[in-house]
Amino acid sequence: MSLAPQHSAPAAAGHGGATPLVRRLRLRDGRSVSVATLGPAFAASFQSFIRGLSPEARAARFHMGLAEPPSSLVAALVQVDQQRHVAWVAHESGRPDSIVAEVRFAAEGDAAELAVAVADRWRRLGLARALLRRIARRAARAGIRRLWGHVRADNEPMLRLAHRAGFRRSRLPGDAATLLIERELAPAASLLRTTGRRLVAWFTARRRTLSVLAALILPGGFLVLVAMALAARVAPALRALGSRGQTLVHRAAPRACAGCP
Ligand SMILES: CC(C)(COP(=O)(O)OP(=O)(O)OC[C@H]1O[C@@H](n2cnc3c(N)ncnc32)[C@H](O)[C@@H]1OP(=O)(O)O)[C@@H](O)C(=O)NCCC(=O)NCCS
Repeated sequence: MSLAPQHSAPAAAGHGGATPLVRRLRLRDGRSVSVATLGPAFAASFQSFIRGLSPEARAARFHMGLAEPPSSLVAALVQVDQQRHVAWVAHESGRPDSIVAEVRFAAEGDAAELAVAVADRWRRLGLARALLRRIARRAARAGIRRLWGHVRADNEPMLRLAHRAGFRRSRLPGDAATLLIERELAPAASLLRTTGRRLVAWFTARRRTLSVLAALILPGGFLVLVAMALAARVAPALRALGSRGQTLVHRAAPRACAGCP
């Protein structure tokens, strides 16, 4: 994916346009990162991030062999409006100067081009997948209905990641080296419905545990719980008594019927 910087609207308000989004995102190896909106405050660290990518990763991300990212490019990449052009970075927790990943989309109409890159030492930890999932939700809220990207046909990691994230791929006419990946996004309202349905299912599956917890927490609930526990202990005894009575009746029955044929 190239995602050339086309939108250079002024940065959002805040510390150079940078706002923390996720304070702590735990990765597969136990390390954690923070996610923030990308703004001019990150210009220097973003430049180091791009410089630190391997030449292959830089080529995959920008579709060109950049040895040193020109500062004009960096300046354009950090100037995003966070509305139609949304860009986030993940950085080591507590170290905003150490960017380890970037994800962004730039919208045109109701479609948006997507780009993502993760520093070599932070790969295969689920970082790109987590960022992609979140930015897709953000795009849906911005009214985007389709996310797309151009991926080099030999970029197996990105193609697999895209496949697992629900993107389909197709060939670009006349360009055997590049594939188009795309995914439709559910409108935010139906995302809300899906989340609502999941929540209801979650509560239904745990209703017993939750009602015990609620009984413990709510005033007077403890007494209800004790009464329920007592009832649970007394019920078998009562049942046993009842069945003994029944047995006696059954045993007595033949005698009562002694004169019967
Ligand atoms: C593609 C890229 C963003 C993946 O980042 P990542 O954080 O390592 O990806 P994740 O750890 O979230 O991996 C998610 C899934 O993608 C697939 N995947 C990622 N890297 C892979 C690799 N090297 N080989 C095979 N599958 C891979 C796997 O299915 C993986 O799931 P799994 O680890 O449970 O098997 C990263 O390799 C990268 O920055 N590449 C260079 C830049 C680039 O190509 N950007 C895309 C074009 S803009």
